[in-house]
Amino acid sequence: MRPCMSPGSFLLALTLLCILLGLGCPLSCEVCKGSGPTCSGKMKTCEAGKDACVVVVGESSTKGHHAVNTHKACMKFSDCYSGFVSTTMGPKDYMVSNTRCCQSDGCNHDSVPPPQNNRTENGLQCPACIVPFQETCQGTQAAHCVGQETRCIYFAGNVQAGIINTKFATRGCATESACLAQAGAQVPSASYLYFLRRADCLPAPQSPDRAE
Ligand SMILES: *[C@@H]1O[C@H](CO)[C@@H](O)[C@H](O)[C@H]1NC(C)=O
Repeated sequence: MRPCMSPGSFLLALTLLCILLGLGCPLSCEVCKGSGPTCSGKMKTCEAGKDACVVVVGESSTKGHHAVNTHKACMKFSDCYSGFVSTTMGPKDYMVSNTRCCQSDGCNHDSVPPPQNNRTENGLQCPACIVPFQETCQGTQAAHCVGQETRCIYFAGNVQAGIINTKFATRGCATESACLAQAGAQVPSASYLYFLRRADCLPAPQSPDRAE
């Protein structure tokens, strides 16, 4: 017996059908997470509502432990920012990333250039804290902003790291681009997936020890 349609023409027919009926056709994206400036993984069909493919390359320091990671996934296009983001919570705790969002099957296959990491202080500062397992934090320390960071952020919600999902709260310096993240968004970083319930953003004040 011969199949009545080859897999290729079946997919084509399905695509045509959902275009004709005005249905949202599911997108397929490459999905992977790994250390280094790129990763490769399997193509996966995105769940409903995730209408973009994303690739994030990030460089981070966690208590001085330095890492470069890449993450490719499906996400909601309206939550996806293409470009550079920098956040600093302390001299040894920061993250810079480059992200690209796109909307065709497998379009996140190619990686993005690793982000620039300009650690030169710019004279601004923000209340800072990083707290796992809680949804608020005091910000009693001060982070010195670097490079293009001109905003103070207060992000909180849940963070998924592998199979572990826990509450988090963090405050510190960020580029204006980080302020596009809205409460309710699911935002992938190079290593984690953040579910934001709080995404406050204010202009960063001058550091008092720099003021003349
Ligand atoms: C790095 O950041 C500092 C402070 O904002 C700025 O003056 C400098 O021009 C930046 N350097 C580069 C290479 O972007």
